[in-house]
Amino acid sequence: MTKQDRLYARRNFLKSGTAAALLPWLPGSLFAAGDDEFDYQLTASVSGIRLADEPFPETKTWSFNRQSPGPLLRLRRGETVRVAVKNELPQELTVHWHGLRITNAMDGVPILTQPPITPGDTFVYRYTPPDAGTFWYHSHVNTAEQVGRGLYGPIIVEEPEAPPVDRDLVWVLDDWKLDQRAQIVADFDNRRDLARAGRLGNTVTINGRIPQSLSVRAGERLRLRLINAANARIFALRFRGHRTLVIARDGQPVDPYEPGGPVVIGPAQRFDLIFDMTGEPGQRYSVIDVNYPQSPSRLTDIEYLQQARLPDKPAGDYPGLPRNNIPQPDLRDPLVQPIVLAGGDLGQLTHAQLGGQRLEMTRLYLLGKMWAINDIVNTGYSDTPLFAVERGKTVILEFRNHSAWPHPMHLHGHHFQVLEHSRDREVTGKWLDTVLLGPEESARVAFVADNPGDWLFHCHILGHARAGMMAVIRVS
Ligand code: C2O
Ligand code: CU
Repeated sequence: MTKQDRLYARRNFLKSGTAAALLPWLPGSLFAAGDDEFDYQLTASVSGIRLADEPFPETKTWSFNRQSPGPLLRLRRGETVRVAVKNELPQELTVHWHGLRITNAMDGVPILTQPPITPGDTFVYRYTPPDAGTFWYHSHVNTAEQVGRGLYGPIIVEEPEAPPVDRDLVWVLDDWKLDQRAQIVADFDNRRDLARAGRLGNTVTINGRIPQSLSVRAGERLRLRLINAANARIFALRFRGHRTLVIARDGQPVDPYEPGGPVVIGPAQRFDLIFDMTGEPGQRYSVIDVNYPQSPSRLTDIEYLQQARLPDKPAGDYPGLPRNNIPQPDLRDPLVQPIVLAGGDLGQLTHAQLGGQRLEMTRLYLLGKMWAINDIVNTGYSDTPLFAVERGKTVILEFRNHSAWPHPMHLHGHHFQVLEHSRDREVTGKWLDTVLLGPEESARVAFVADNPGDWLFHCHILGHARAGMMAVIRVS
């Protein structure tokens, strides 16, 4: 057993009741001063990771437990978990559990919900996931750079009864901006990226590797969990020769549906798919990303092994995953809040407020702060709330993207239900934590503000957030 294995196994030791007997043999690093008991340890450090094959060298990344994505956290709905986060980076750190509707103090936003973890220190997060589904964690200090360098990982909160599939696969999608020696280009403040589509990489990976192909067996039924961990890239995936069934979005079950086009997944979003391997042994199909239609690119191939076909699955009519318990918005008496997204290149914003001052766009560009929510450019995590709402009240956010670039807007601590979306009919009725708004698109979403605290609300194109597209929403 490697040291790594032991760390993950520990969770099971603790559960099995033999923990007490085994603990004395565990490595000393597990008992760093100050952290009590925990189920997982995530250590953030600088480490070399092989993204590209030889002859390229390893890529110097920042990662959790020397791997990117970091280790999969497998949690149970309603069961408290303790995750010790050790910071061995040269910078401060916090970890945000994206999509988990947990208590504010554990949400992992620096200043707003906790003091950042200083280099050398450990912080133990303790929380109880209320929803089963597919989520992820990522650092939330200097986020564009830290996530861009690889500090994230997947979370599965198990359903009490999982759907009957042969394999449950996770694909964490990312793109990296690498130079010719396969090293990360460190221009996280590149104005052009900030003011446009965000930082798009030149090297796409699945689970931290340039994808080769996925080997499957004819007749297999897969559950495929897609997580978009990229700073800015939107994926629009076509699975050639196959039908897919969407069974959850952003961790929340949906009435299963076959998407009418490609599966479009914006930064931070997740899709759970049921995917039947209806091809024949020896066949090969491509998975294509068509988000940039002028230059579709092959993400990976599905390669059928030369093995006898598995017996057919009972066709159709999968009733869907059991629902999580999210309070239903009361649309009779909501707080209605317009959210106007503006700024960036080719936009119409001429002025915006920064730190209480009204500044011209040219000035804001020079400061690298060219994105605004309701004409306010935010600088950090200590701004006055955009609005406050009494706990238990229904909120409707009315989004208008008044810019030439897309914005995947994420609210912490809550899922919201999409009431309408100007382009995307399929998203209506879905519960999301991140809604994607293309240029000049609009949408209305509703949620019950049932989770008290100051919650961050921001664009998940991380350069846009860095350049001002953030706000705080207070639930009291
Ligand atoms: Cu995944 Cu504040 O974000
Ligand atoms: Cu944005």
